[in-house]
Amino acid sequence: MISAIPRLGSRKVKGTPTDQTLINLTHIAIPVQNSKIQIEVKWKKFLERRLAIDLDKEIKAAKEFTGKAGEVIEVKSNTEPLKILLSGVGEGKSEDLRKLGAILGRKIKGSSATLLSLCPQDEQQALVHLNALALSNYTWNLKSSKKSESIEFLVSDEFKRAVTHSQVLVETTWQARDLIHTPSNIKSPKWVAAQARKLAKENRLGISVKSGREIAKFGGLRAVGNSSKKNPPCFVEISYKPKKSGTKTKRLPHVVLVGKGITFDTGGVSLKRPYDMMTAMKTDMAGAAAVLLATVAAAKLNLNIRVTTLLMLAENALSATAQRPSDVIEHFDGTTVEVINTDAEGRLVLADGLAYADLKLSPDYLVDVATLTGAATLGLSRHFAALYTRDDVMAKKFNEIGEYTGDRIWQMPLVDDYAIALESEIADLNHTADKYDFEAGSVTAALFLERFVGKRRWFHLDIAGPARSEADSGENPKGGTGYGVRLLTEWMAQL
Ligand code: BES
Ligand code: ZN
Ligand code: ZN
Repeated sequence: MISAIPRLGSRKVKGTPTDQTLINLTHIAIPVQNSKIQIEVKWKKFLERRLAIDLDKEIKAAKEFTGKAGEVIEVKSNTEPLKILLSGVGEGKSEDLRKLGAILGRKIKGSSATLLSLCPQDEQQALVHLNALALSNYTWNLKSSKKSESIEFLVSDEFKRAVTHSQVLVETTWQARDLIHTPSNIKSPKWVAAQARKLAKENRLGISVKSGREIAKFGGLRAVGNSSKKNPPCFVEISYKPKKSGTKTKRLPHVVLVGKGITFDTGGVSLKRPYDMMTAMKTDMAGAAAVLLATVAAAKLNLNIRVTTLLMLAENALSATAQRPSDVIEHFDGTTVEVINTDAEGRLVLADGLAYADLKLSPDYLVDVATLTGAATLGLSRHFAALYTRDDVMAKKFNEIGEYTGDRIWQMPLVDDYAIALESEIADLNHTADKYDFEAGSVTAALFLERFVGKRRWFHLDIAGPARSEADSGENPKGGTGYGVRLLTEWMAQL
């Protein structure tokens, strides 16, 4: 069963409430802060009259309820099926509205409901609240039973922009999740490329898919991907530019996004251990999913920038054609690399993508997104992606956007002193940066990638932690979260 994407909308709530305002609603969420109801008196009176209830009395009766973010009590009416959800908005920060949204969304998950939330008080709150309401409803499975529910979330029509924007973010995050959840017996590199083609066609994006001899210069992508004869590697290049506005605009900023798209990571000859780590590795293309769907979002929002997106698609299999520890490969820019541990395949496919971007695409901003290292998860757990960049000002911007969208980042240092870990006796670099025992696997992986970005303004997001959730909770389902779609889209919208 693949659940339908919730519909978002708005309703006129300012002014005098009428019966029309409540039509077709199954739930209405009313904000409560410090035990006080935060809606206009005439609204409160109207609801109390219509539903024959006393809201203050209900709050008093629920002794534990104070209005902390995410506390919800349900009040049933004596006169009609409409349910009132008294909803704690905490301090009324965007983060509170996001948390509350996920709890409200989960309350009605799996039903056919239309919920009007009066909780958000500004555009940003409306955006994150709607995102959370909708995304907490995500389910994915391949059970043969069919079920179709249709869920709708509404806010005040003062926030129309947030509604349109959120619908795009919800749809694209949803689709990224669908790709990540798809098992790897279905999800080959070719399959992902076909999904990208479909999305490109629907959203007037340019697309080219290359494989075989056309990717001869991508030594990293080939070395990893040729481990699978059945599912060979491919390289997808997608391009977006805005519809002509008619007016002469100055040169648009060019963003190049590069995504790690390992459709399954066995570790290769250096087989992944412990073995139960391997079952999660269908999600090792979450970076590619994030950059693909962020590009779709940019098109849907008609952002005033240029985007070129590269998907580095390969399966890291174990076979007679798999690369070996001690092999030396040559990347797109001519850099030679001594392969140490074939489970560090992500940086090998990304190196080609980054070098291609630097040498062929003249990006103003070069961003890569990858489930790159277990070390990033060790350092930051699942709530933050590790961001590496030399551009501290932009890092702050990413941080700001991460905090309100929920796709949070933590800037990590590119420690120059550790760069000697990349030395090799027989090639330009050794690929796992294992010299001199520096540890810091996420940092040294970033230093490796930096060798391929030339002088570009570069941002590396190691999303090994937040790309996957261990539990079905908050905005996230168990499994692929779609991390990065919201962060990248909002970031590009603000360039
Ligand atoms: N895909 C993994 C990283 C990963 C681990 C993602 C756990 C999500 C959850 C990556 O290809 C990998 O195996 N990295 C190795 C690198 C090491 C061999 C230098 C790692 O992090 O252990
Ligand atoms: Zn690996
Ligand atoms: Zn991997």
